[in-house]
Amino acid sequence: MQQDENTPTDGRKTEENAQNIQHVQSAAADGRPALYGRKVLSFVRRSARLDARLQRAWDAYADTYLLNINAGEGSLDVREGFVFDQAYIRETWGNANPLIVEIGSGQGENVVAAAASQPDVNFLALEVYDPGVAHTLLLAGKQNLKNLRIAQINAPELFKAAVDGSIAEVWTFFPDPWPKMRHHKRRIVQPELAADVHRALTDEGVWRIATDIEDYALHVHEVMDELDGFHNDGALNVSLPVEHVGKGNADEAAALRHADFAESERFDGRVLTNFEKKGLAAGRVIHDFTYRRV
Ligand SMILES: C[S@@+](CC[C@H](N)C(=O)[O-])C[C@H]1O[C@@H](n2cnc3c(N)ncnc32)[C@H](O)[C@@H]1O
Repeated sequence: MQQDENTPTDGRKTEENAQNIQHVQSAAADGRPALYGRKVLSFVRRSARLDARLQRAWDAYADTYLLNINAGEGSLDVREGFVFDQAYIRETWGNANPLIVEIGSGQGENVVAAAASQPDVNFLALEVYDPGVAHTLLLAGKQNLKNLRIAQINAPELFKAAVDGSIAEVWTFFPDPWPKMRHHKRRIVQPELAADVHRALTDEGVWRIATDIEDYALHVHEVMDELDGFHNDGALNVSLPVEHVGKGNADEAAALRHADFAESERFDGRVLTNFEKKGLAAGRVIHDFTYRRV
C-alpha cells in the first residue's frame, strides 16, 4: 500500500504536512471535496484565483477544450467507469489521427505550439493547476486550435483508465523535481505509471521525458532502463552519479562514483519553456530520454 504523505512516520507533523492537512480541511469547509486522503501525489494542491484575463479565457474556451471526465466538481480523479480508448478518442477529436499526451503541460506553451504546427496530430494536455489550465485555454482559443484538448486530471489517473494502445507519444518535460530525499517518491515517473503508459502506447510508441535535475535523471534511469516493455533509444553516453542526493547534499554528487547512461539528443519538437530556460540559465545540463514501447 502506498504511504500517505500526510502521515508522518515519526509521529511529528512537519510544517508541510500541517499545511497539507490544513488545505484538505479548508477545501472540505468551503464545499470542495477533501481529496487524496491516501495517495502519494506529484503535486501540492493549491487553490489559486484566476486573474481577470485567465477567468475570461476559462469562461470563453472551457466548453470547447476541457474534457468532461472528472469524478466531480473540484475532483482531479477521472469519473468511475470512464474508459480512455480509441472509441473515446475518435469521438472527442473527430478523427483517428495519432494522439500525443503531455503530462504536466504547465502554461501550455509547448503543447499549443506543437498542436499548431502539426494539425494532423491530436494532442491532449494534462495539468492539475488552474492557472496553467486557464493559460493553455487562452493560447489554444486565440489560435482556434481544433486538434487540442485539455484535461484537468491527476495524470496517472488518466493512464489507469487507458485500456488499449491508442496513444502514439507521451511527453513529460521538466516534471516537478521533489529534491528532498523523503519526497523522491512523489516524483511522477514511477513504475506504476510506466506500466500504465506502456499499456496505453501504440506499438513503437514513445515516452519522451526531459529534466534539468541530475538526480531526477538518475531516478528516470532507475525506473525505466530495466523495464522489459521499453527500449531506451538514447544514443548519447551521459555520466551520472550512481547514488541519490537530496536537497541538503546535492553538492556532494560530483564526488560520488559515476557511470555512463544512454540518453537522447534534445527533442527538437519541444519549445523552450521557462522551466527549461531557468535550468539552462542556472548552468544545469538538460537530460532527454526516449523510451520506445517494444
Ligand atoms: C515544473 S512544471 C513543468 C511544466 C511544463 N512541462 C514545462 O516544461 O514548462 C511541472 C508541471 O506538472 C504539473 N503536474 C505535476 N503533477 C501532475 C499530475 N499528477 N498530473 C498533471 N499535472 C501535474 C504541475 O502542476 C506543473 O505545472
